[in-house]
Amino acid sequence: MRIDILTLFPGMFPGYLNESILKKAQELGQLEVYLHNIRDYATGKHRVTDEPPFGGGGGMVLKPDVLFTAVESILPGGISPQPPGSFAPPLILLSPQGRPFTQTIAQELAQHERLVLLCGRYEGVDERVRQHLITDEISIGDYVLTGGELAAMVLVDAVTRLLPGVLGAEGAAETDSHATGLLEGPHYTKPADFRGWQVPDVLRSGHAANIAHWRREQSLRRTWQRRPDLLLTAPLTEEDKWFLAQLAEESVNSDQ
Ligand code: ADE
Repeated sequence: MRIDILTLFPGMFPGYLNESILKKAQELGQLEVYLHNIRDYATGKHRVTDEPPFGGGGGMVLKPDVLFTAVESILPGGISPQPPGSFAPPLILLSPQGRPFTQTIAQELAQHERLVLLCGRYEGVDERVRQHLITDEISIGDYVLTGGELAAMVLVDAVTRLLPGVLGAEGAAETDSHATGLLEGPHYTKPADFRGWQVPDVLRSGHAANIAHWRREQSLRRTWQRRPDLLLTAPLTEEDKWFLAQLAEESVNSDQ
């Protein structure tokens, strides 16, 4: 996958991109990241990228001409028409007004060969960029960051670990929290006895079916305790539903 990132602060990215899994993904040839400084596409002596909003009010707004020029220079043929046989990649604005980022969206985005990410700053971008340039707008949560750079990095990280071969068999993404629609249950490693706290016997039993069963129940229990909203959409078997009913009954009894 190729990811182009348009930002006023390209220097914020290399540290994170050049370590651990993202570094490995690039070494494997699964990920290519191109950083583009928005200021390089501004004209005039001062290369102005932002101006105060029409109508007054605080803050600065990123200028549409600069952002259109930047996108049209990095996409062959601009935003449209694309060369025959090629598809315009999603052009995603990171902003607190976007749709909330989820594992499902990460999985969708991981199917594309190319993504273009636009990091907002200040009060945001001129509305014509939203209307006529970007194809998607994503938020990483209901809080306001100083810009879209961290959000872009979050998206790159969540998508990259889903690309083929990036995690390898050991860290397979299929059982991650959220990938199954549920939270993951607890994990333990050596030592089996740490300060008198024991690892559950079942995990040391070597009995694969019992371990899988225990893990499923732990995952359901944790989701029920911490994120019951996820249970409304998670794919559940009849056995899962029965287990959840038991949990609900236990909690009613313990309240009495
Ligand atoms: N830019 C500022 N805040 C943001 C958020 N919560 N998500 C994505 N981009 C942002």
